[in-house]
Amino acid sequence: MRRARKVLAATKMKSRTVSGAGLGLRRALIGPLQELLGAEHTDRTSAPIDFFEVAPENWINVGGKLGKQFRAFTESYPFVCHGLSLSLGGPAPLDETLLHKIRNLLDAHQIRIYSEHLSYCSDDGHLYDLLPIPFTEEAVDYVAARIRRAQDILKQRIAIENVSYYGVPGASLSEIDFVNAVLKAADCDLLLDVNNVYVNSVNHRYDAKSFIDALPAERVVYMHIAGHFNEAPGLIVDSHAAPIIDPVFDLLDHAYRHCGVKPTLLERDFHIPPLAELVSELDVVRGIQARFAPPASASAATEAKHVRRA
Ligand SMILES: [Fe+2]
Repeated sequence: MRRARKVLAATKMKSRTVSGAGLGLRRALIGPLQELLGAEHTDRTSAPIDFFEVAPENWINVGGKLGKQFRAFTESYPFVCHGLSLSLGGPAPLDETLLHKIRNLLDAHQIRIYSEHLSYCSDDGHLYDLLPIPFTEEAVDYVAARIRRAQDILKQRIAIENVSYYGVPGASLSEIDFVNAVLKAADCDLLLDVNNVYVNSVNHRYDAKSFIDALPAERVVYMHIAGHFNEAPGLIVDSHAAPIIDPVFDLLDHAYRHCGVKPTLLERDFHIPPLAELVSELDVVRGIQARFAPPASASAATEAKHVRRA
């Protein structure tokens, strides 16, 4: 009986493993998703969405019908949490109350990945935007200490996300040196936003592929991909409001070459099209991931080897 329980627990944990291509779970999408995936969410193997991402701030203390709907999704699909308001680089004291609430949400839904932006969004009040941390040694020490404190409270590593930025106030380091220094000093993981690398490479005139090649591949736990807006020649805005363009898909392919295939989340926050269009973008992501799968004969041989060993 104890063994059966252990096997069941292991199967459940395996079913929460995040892989493939995912989508942000917005409240407005719950109805269309239930229709697309089936009310019981039973057939995960052929589901067109492999995992979901939520902002924990949007689901803490949510009960009633909405809470039950959320529970049905988290019991059926792997989830990641992507924070909005922790303000890791902010001047105000770290919001430890929020971190404890996030810990409870992660536990309640067995969510194993939590990420936040490498930026800040509040001082005394909320600024409702993600602002760049100055690329300086002093800022590396400051933000790394706050990340380590967040990891202590959450009792797990967190992933920080490279953000898009449009000004570089008081920088003494390059963006890549700043990101890598924070990863090292905080001993944390990276959420690699491929579209943000593309946007920044155009706006700040650097080579996107070289930037990715300089990142520590082993720290990347998952990736973001999104569309953007062409504001003016040489100036693009990370809008999350348009389809992904081919050069960003090409950069995703390059990122997989450097880091290996990682779970990849499509971000779409504005001008949200019908779900079928988002699913077709996820299919493109999965097509790129499939390029890196071992040939069928090789995977069959590996499987046979495992069977013999068992
Ligand atoms: Fe992102």
